[in-house]
Amino acid sequence: MLTVEQVAACGVVPVVVLEDESQAVPTAKALLKGGITAMEITFRTSAAKGSIAKVSKEVPEMIVGAGTVVNLEQLHDAVDAGAQFIVCPGSDPEIIAEANKLGVAITPGVVTPSEIMMGLKLGVKVFKFFPAETFGGLKAIKALSGPFPQIRFIPTGGVNQSNAAEYFKNPKIVAVGGSWMVTKDMVVNGEFDAITEKSKAATDLYKEIRG
Ligand code: 3PG
Repeated sequence: MLTVEQVAACGVVPVVVLEDESQAVPTAKALLKGGITAMEITFRTSAAKGSIAKVSKEVPEMIVGAGTVVNLEQLHDAVDAGAQFIVCPGSDPEIIAEANKLGVAITPGVVTPSEIMMGLKLGVKVFKFFPAETFGGLKAIKALSGPFPQIRFIPTGGVNQSNAAEYFKNPKIVAVGGSWMVTKDMVVNGEFDAITEKSKAATDLYKEIRG
């Protein structure tokens, strides 16, 4: 089982929405070319399960995970399709416990101390901070790190190329998540070079700051 730190080693985890599973492999390859080694395919469309399965089989260098997992059925579908990590927008103890049982890394979403305390009970060490910019961004993460020095965050929601550097400079940040390097339109229009270019800019920025 991969840890969340291993999954997020390239510093940037794209939140990917695919309307059609035929877009999955070219998108994964474009991200890889830009230095991104893990992608979150969201359960916001019916193409999610099939897309995860395709990337898992056809692009083995890419660590593929499932995002926007909000129920147990999606969790099971994701793991059956080959997802190596799970991201949830919020915190559901049932989903966290089941992911632990299945032996798959999970990053539940939090914005409050109570949600963090619930996750801690279930062994979570890395939380998604979502929606990051709306809920105080880095200032909130710094405040939450006071009582919870043992945890780290993947801020997502409103993070992009122009504010990622500030997050990368904070040691409590494992990686950032976001959709700016692979928007729905870029996928639908087949703009795979643009996906690679934006991914490279993001991973280069991470390397520049973290070394
Ligand atoms: C998510 O689900 O994590 C967000 O929709 C991604 O946020 P962004 O589109 O602001 O990057």
